[in-house]
Amino acid sequence: MNRRGMATLGLALVTATVGAAAIRSVEQDPKPAAKNDPNGWQLPPDTEKTTNPLTVDPTVIATGKAIFKDKCQRCHGPGGVGDGPDADPDHRDDMDLTNTTRAEENSDGVMFYKVWNGRKKPKMPAFSKDLTKDQVWAVVTYAKTLRNAH
Ligand code: HEC
Repeated sequence: MNRRGMATLGLALVTATVGAAAIRSVEQDPKPAAKNDPNGWQLPPDTEKTTNPLTVDPTVIATGKAIFKDKCQRCHGPGGVGDGPDADPDHRDDMDLTNTTRAEENSDGVMFYKVWNGRKKPKMPAFSKDLTKDQVWAVVTYAKTLRNAH
């Protein structure tokens, strides 16, 4: 390679290095880290520390059960295993609310966040417009009882 070729190569290397550094700095932007849970949800920090404000009693569970039947069962199925008529056939496992590995990752606060905010893909509807916070807490409380049903 001649001198000119070397110079051009050198410049190209510098450009590539600077470019890569710029991309890295964007990726490392230390905004309050959204915690990615293993299933790809973007969860704001502290979501998992949010606790259920309701006192869990049979009334709350009955309320949650009615809401589940009305709003969730068509996808998640009566037992919460992801076999409702409107279930996403490609994401049955992701919809299984009784899966114990997933249950460990879904604290009360995380469950609440997912139901309240939903997700585009795989599609889980947001219920912030449909339900009150107390109703979402009630259905989260009920959904957790399905974990013990197996
Ligand atoms: C239109 C279908 C549909 C309806 C209705 C629906 N869901 Fe979902 N839900 C999904 C899908 C699909 C996923 C999987 C998303 C993913 O990949 O984590 C999901 C995921 C979830 C998760 C997270 C599971 C996990 O392990 O990450 C929770 C909790 C949940 N749904 C609760 C509810 C509750 C409670 C209701 C009713 C208020 C409800 N869903 C209504 C489709 C639905």
